[in-house]
Amino acid sequence: MNKIVIAIDGFSSTGKSTIAKQLAKQLNYIYVDTGAMYRAVTYFALENNLIGEDFFHSETLIKKLDDIHITFKFNEALGFAEVYLNGEHIEKEIRTLRVSQYVSPVATISEVRQKLVEQQQLMGKDKGIVMDGRDIGTVVFPDAELKIFMTASAKTRAQRRYKELLERGHNLSYEDVLENVTTRDRIDSTRKDSPLVKAEGAIEIDNSDLTIEEQLDSIIKLVNAIT
Ligand code: C5P
Repeated sequence: MNKIVIAIDGFSSTGKSTIAKQLAKQLNYIYVDTGAMYRAVTYFALENNLIGEDFFHSETLIKKLDDIHITFKFNEALGFAEVYLNGEHIEKEIRTLRVSQYVSPVATISEVRQKLVEQQQLMGKDKGIVMDGRDIGTVVFPDAELKIFMTASAKTRAQRRYKELLERGHNLSYEDVLENVTTRDRIDSTRKDSPLVKAEGAIEIDNSDLTIEEQLDSIIKLVNAIT
Protein backbone atom coordinates (compact mmCIF):
# COMPACT_ATOMS: atom_id res chain seq x y z
CA MET A 1 0.00 0.00 0.00
CA ASN A 2 1.25 3.48 -0.87
CA LYS A 3 2.22 5.62 2.10
CA ILE A 4 0.62 9.02 2.09
CA VAL A 5 0.66 12.29 4.02
CA ILE A 6 -2.42 12.94 6.15
CA ALA A 7 -2.88 16.57 7.22
CA ILE A 8 -5.35 17.26 10.02
CA ASP A 9 -6.16 20.88 10.81
CA GLY A 10 -8.78 22.57 12.90
CA PHE A 11 -9.62 24.84 15.82
CA SER A 12 -8.34 24.24 19.37
CA SER A 13 -9.50 21.13 21.18
CA THR A 14 -11.39 19.59 18.28
CA GLY A 15 -9.87 16.25 19.24
CA LYS A 16 -7.41 16.34 16.34
CA SER A 17 -4.56 14.78 18.26
CA THR A 18 -6.67 11.95 19.72
CA ILE A 19 -7.74 10.92 16.22
CA ALA A 20 -4.34 11.56 14.63
CA LYS A 21 -2.57 9.39 17.22
CA GLN A 22 -4.94 6.46 16.77
CA LEU A 23 -4.93 6.81 13.02
CA ALA A 24 -1.11 6.72 12.95
CA LYS A 25 -1.12 3.65 15.17
CA GLN A 26 -3.60 1.79 12.95
CA LEU A 27 -1.75 2.67 9.76
CA ASN A 28 1.70 2.23 11.28
CA TYR A 29 2.50 5.84 10.40
CA ILE A 30 4.49 8.48 12.26
CA TYR A 31 2.39 10.98 14.23
CA VAL A 32 3.55 14.56 14.67
CA ASP A 33 1.79 16.99 17.01
CA THR A 34 2.87 20.37 15.61
CA GLY A 35 1.02 22.24 18.38
CA ALA A 36 3.54 20.71 20.79
CA MET A 37 6.32 22.38 18.81
CA TYR A 38 4.73 25.86 19.11
CA ARG A 39 4.11 25.10 22.77
CA ALA A 40 7.79 24.15 23.22
CA VAL A 41 8.92 27.51 21.79
CA THR A 42 6.43 29.25 24.09
CA TYR A 43 7.72 27.31 27.10
CA PHE A 44 11.27 28.40 26.16
CA ALA A 45 10.08 32.05 25.94
CA LEU A 46 8.40 31.83 29.35
CA GLU A 47 11.40 30.12 30.99
CA ASN A 48 13.69 32.83 29.62
CA ASN A 49 11.40 35.69 30.66
CA LEU A 50 10.79 36.74 27.07
CA ILE A 51 7.02 36.81 27.41
CA GLY A 52 4.72 37.66 30.29
CA GLU A 53 1.53 39.45 31.26
CA ASP A 54 2.63 42.89 29.99
CA PHE A 55 5.72 42.23 27.89
CA PHE A 56 6.81 40.26 24.86
CA HIS A 57 10.45 40.49 23.77
CA SER A 58 9.73 38.96 20.39
CA GLU A 59 12.93 40.29 18.77
CA THR A 60 15.04 38.57 21.44
CA LEU A 61 13.06 35.36 20.95
CA ILE A 62 13.77 35.53 17.20
CA LYS A 63 17.49 35.99 17.93
CA LYS A 64 17.46 32.98 20.25
CA LEU A 65 15.68 30.63 17.84
CA ASP A 66 18.93 28.81 17.06
CA ASP A 67 19.15 27.85 20.74
CA ILE A 68 15.85 25.98 20.50
CA HIS A 69 16.10 22.31 19.55
CA ILE A 70 12.85 20.41 19.46
CA THR A 71 12.93 16.63 19.16
CA PHE A 72 10.41 13.81 19.44
CA LYS A 73 11.09 10.46 21.05
CA PHE A 74 8.75 7.50 20.73
CA ASN A 75 7.37 6.35 24.08
CA GLU A 76 6.68 2.61 23.77
CA ALA A 77 4.36 2.51 26.78
CA LEU A 78 2.19 5.37 25.51
CA GLY A 79 2.40 4.40 21.86
CA PHE A 80 3.27 7.85 20.56
CA ALA A 81 6.20 10.27 20.40
CA GLU A 82 6.76 12.82 23.14
CA VAL A 83 8.33 16.23 22.76
CA TYR A 84 11.71 17.34 24.14
CA LEU A 85 13.19 20.82 24.30
CA ASN A 86 17.01 20.85 24.24
CA GLY A 87 16.95 17.28 25.54
CA GLU A 88 14.47 18.00 28.35
CA HIS A 89 11.19 16.06 28.44
CA ILE A 90 8.51 18.79 28.51
CA GLU A 91 5.23 17.00 27.70
CA LYS A 92 3.66 17.98 31.02
CA GLU A 93 5.06 21.52 31.13
CA ILE A 94 3.67 22.49 27.72
CA ARG A 95 0.09 21.41 28.48
CA THR A 96 -0.54 23.99 31.22
CA LEU A 97 -3.04 26.86 30.85
CA ARG A 98 -0.07 29.26 31.23
CA VAL A 99 1.54 27.94 28.03
CA SER A 100 -1.89 27.84 26.32
CA GLN A 101 -2.35 31.52 27.14
CA TYR A 102 0.87 32.61 25.42
CA VAL A 103 1.21 30.13 22.57
CA SER A 104 -0.98 31.89 19.98
CA PRO A 105 0.91 35.22 20.16
CA VAL A 106 4.19 33.29 19.82
CA ALA A 107 2.75 31.40 16.83
CA THR A 108 2.09 34.70 14.99
CA ILE A 109 5.86 35.29 14.59
CA SER A 110 6.89 34.45 11.02
CA GLU A 111 10.46 33.48 11.98
CA VAL A 112 9.12 30.96 14.51
CA ARG A 113 6.76 29.50 11.91
CA GLN A 114 9.48 29.30 9.29
CA LYS A 115 11.77 27.34 11.60
CA LEU A 116 9.08 24.90 12.67
CA VAL A 117 7.57 24.43 9.20
CA GLU A 118 11.03 23.50 7.82
CA GLN A 119 11.45 20.87 10.51
CA GLN A 120 7.91 19.54 9.90
CA GLN A 121 8.48 19.24 6.16
CA LEU A 122 11.66 17.25 6.80
CA MET A 123 9.81 14.89 9.15
CA GLY A 124 7.24 14.19 6.43
CA LYS A 125 9.51 13.89 3.43
CA ASP A 126 9.23 10.07 3.30
CA LYS A 127 5.43 10.20 3.77
CA GLY A 128 3.67 7.69 6.02
CA ILE A 129 2.88 10.53 8.40
CA VAL A 130 -0.14 11.96 10.19
CA MET A 131 0.44 15.57 11.20
CA ASP A 132 -2.00 17.76 13.05
CA GLY A 133 -2.04 21.52 13.53
CA ARG A 134 -3.44 24.69 11.99
CA ASP A 135 -1.52 25.11 8.71
CA ILE A 136 -0.61 21.56 7.71
CA GLY A 137 -2.91 21.32 4.68
CA THR A 138 -2.36 24.93 3.65
CA VAL A 139 1.36 25.56 4.23
CA VAL A 140 3.34 22.56 5.49
CA PHE A 141 1.96 19.95 3.07
CA PRO A 142 -0.28 21.71 0.53
CA ASP A 143 0.06 18.57 -1.63
CA ALA A 144 -0.96 16.13 1.11
CA GLU A 145 -2.95 13.23 -0.34
CA LEU A 146 -5.56 13.52 2.42
CA LYS A 147 -6.56 16.71 4.22
CA ILE A 148 -9.04 16.75 7.06
CA PHE A 149 -10.54 19.87 8.66
CA MET A 150 -11.97 19.08 12.09
CA THR A 151 -14.65 21.21 13.67
CA ALA A 152 -16.86 21.07 16.77
CA SER A 153 -18.84 23.69 18.66
CA ALA A 154 -16.82 26.02 20.97
CA LYS A 155 -18.75 24.71 23.97
CA THR A 156 -18.04 21.07 23.15
CA ARG A 157 -14.38 21.91 22.67
CA ALA A 158 -14.03 23.85 25.93
CA GLN A 159 -15.77 21.02 27.82
CA ARG A 160 -13.35 18.47 26.33
CA ARG A 161 -10.32 20.59 27.18
CA TYR A 162 -11.62 21.29 30.69
CA LYS A 163 -12.13 17.56 31.36
CA GLU A 164 -8.68 16.76 29.98
CA LEU A 165 -6.97 19.41 32.15
CA LEU A 166 -8.86 18.32 35.27
CA GLU A 167 -7.83 14.72 34.63
CA ARG A 168 -4.22 15.87 34.42
CA GLY A 169 -4.59 17.44 37.86
CA HIS A 170 -4.79 21.10 36.82
CA ASN A 171 -6.94 23.31 39.00
CA LEU A 172 -8.89 25.83 36.90
CA SER A 173 -12.37 26.96 35.99
CA TYR A 174 -14.44 26.02 32.95
CA GLU A 175 -14.79 29.74 32.14
CA ASP A 176 -10.99 30.17 31.98
CA VAL A 177 -10.74 27.26 29.57
CA LEU A 178 -13.59 28.54 27.36
CA GLU A 179 -11.98 31.99 27.28
CA ASN A 180 -8.61 30.48 26.30
CA VAL A 181 -10.08 28.31 23.53
CA THR A 182 -12.03 31.20 21.96
CA THR A 183 -9.13 33.68 22.25
CA ARG A 184 -6.69 31.23 20.63
CA ASP A 185 -9.13 30.50 17.80
CA ARG A 186 -9.52 34.22 17.14
CA ILE A 187 -5.75 34.87 17.07
CA ASP A 188 -5.05 31.70 15.04
CA SER A 189 -7.63 32.44 12.38
CA THR A 190 -6.90 36.18 12.00
CA ARG A 191 -3.09 36.23 12.05
CA LYS A 192 -1.27 37.43 8.92
CA ASP A 193 1.09 34.48 8.50
CA SER A 194 -0.58 31.11 7.86
CA PRO A 195 -4.00 31.80 9.40
CA LEU A 196 -6.15 28.81 10.25
CA VAL A 197 -8.42 28.23 7.26
CA LYS A 198 -9.86 25.14 5.67
CA ALA A 199 -7.35 24.02 3.03
CA GLU A 200 -8.39 23.57 -0.56
CA GLY A 201 -9.59 20.01 -1.00
CA ALA A 202 -9.91 19.38 2.75
CA ILE A 203 -12.74 17.19 3.99
CA GLU A 204 -14.60 18.76 6.89
CA ILE A 205 -15.61 16.58 9.83
CA ASP A 206 -17.80 18.09 12.55
CA ASN A 207 -17.24 15.72 15.43
CA SER A 208 -19.49 17.38 18.05
CA ASP A 209 -21.70 14.28 18.06
CA LEU A 210 -19.33 11.63 16.75
CA THR A 211 -17.51 8.98 18.77
CA ILE A 212 -13.79 8.43 18.26
CA GLU A 213 -14.56 5.10 16.55
CA GLU A 214 -16.97 6.77 14.12
CA GLN A 215 -14.39 9.41 13.22
CA LEU A 216 -11.64 6.84 12.78
CA ASP A 217 -13.87 4.64 10.64
CA SER A 218 -14.69 7.42 8.23
CA ILE A 219 -11.08 8.58 7.94
CA ILE A 220 -9.80 5.01 7.38
CA LYS A 221 -12.35 4.65 4.58
CA LEU A 222 -10.96 7.82 2.99
CA VAL A 223 -7.40 6.50 3.32
CA ASN A 224 -8.35 3.15 1.78
CA ALA A 225 -9.96 4.89 -1.14
CA ILE A 226 -6.66 6.66 -1.89
CA THR A 227 -3.99 4.03 -1.18
O1 C5P B 1 -2.67 22.02 18.80
P1 C5P B 1 -2.52 22.90 20.03
O2 C5P B 1 -3.83 23.39 20.56
O3 C5P B 1 -1.65 22.28 21.06
O4 C5P B 1 -1.72 24.17 19.47
C1 C5P B 1 -1.35 25.23 20.30
C2 C5P B 1 -1.23 26.52 19.50
O5 C5P B 1 -0.11 26.45 18.61
C3 C5P B 1 -2.41 26.88 18.60
O6 C5P B 1 -3.44 27.55 19.30
C4 C5P B 1 -1.74 27.77 17.55
O7 C5P B 1 -1.60 29.09 18.04
C5 C5P B 1 -0.36 27.17 17.42
N1 C5P B 1 -0.21 26.30 16.27
C6 C5P B 1 0.01 26.87 15.02
N2 C5P B 1 0.25 26.08 13.95
C7 C5P B 1 0.25 24.75 14.05
C8 C5P B 1 -0.01 24.13 15.31
C9 C5P B 1 -0.27 24.95 16.39
O8 C5P B 1 0.01 28.09 14.90
N3 C5P B 1 0.52 24.00 12.98
